[in-house]
Amino acid sequence: MEDRKRGQLIHLLHQAQSEEGYISANAISSIAEKLNISEGEVFGVVTFYKAFSLRPQGKHKVTICMGTACHVRGAPLILDELERTLGIPAGETTEDGLFTLETVNCVGACALGPIVIVDGEYHGQVKSREVRKLLENTGENLNRLKEQ
Ligand code: FES
Repeated sequence: MEDRKRGQLIHLLHQAQSEEGYISANAISSIAEKLNISEGEVFGVVTFYKAFSLRPQGKHKVTICMGTACHVRGAPLILDELERTLGIPAGETTEDGLFTLETVNCVGACALGPIVIVDGEYHGQVKSREVRKLLENTGENLNRLKEQ
C-alpha cells in the first residue's frame, strides 16, 4: 500500500475509533470502500497497531506493565489482584462496560515498576493492597462488579 493511502487509512481508523470507541466491522468495510482497498488490508493495519481495538473498550482503561523489570518487581501479583477485583482476565472488559484490563510490555519507566496506568495516569511501585484504591479513584463503585 502506498504511503499516502496508508496515512489516510490510519487517519480514518483513528476517527472511527474515537467515534465508536473501537473499530467495528462496519467501519472496516466502509473504510475499505472509501479508500478502494480490501477489508483484509484494513484489518491488517488494525491488528498491527496496538492503539486500535476490534472490541468495545470499557469506560476506564487499566493497563499493567508485564515487562521484565516490572515482572521481577512483582507485576504478576498486581495482575492477579486486578483480575480478582475486576472479575475479568487481562484483555477483557467488565460486563457493565466500566473497565478494560490490558497488559503491555514496558512503558519505559522500569525503575518505578511495577507500573499500573489507569485512564492514562501512571502509578509506580504499586502494591497489591493499593489496587482496589486505584480502581476506586476512577469514581466507580466496585461493589457493583461483585453483583454481576
Ligand atoms: S518493564 Fe515495566 S516499565 Fe519497563
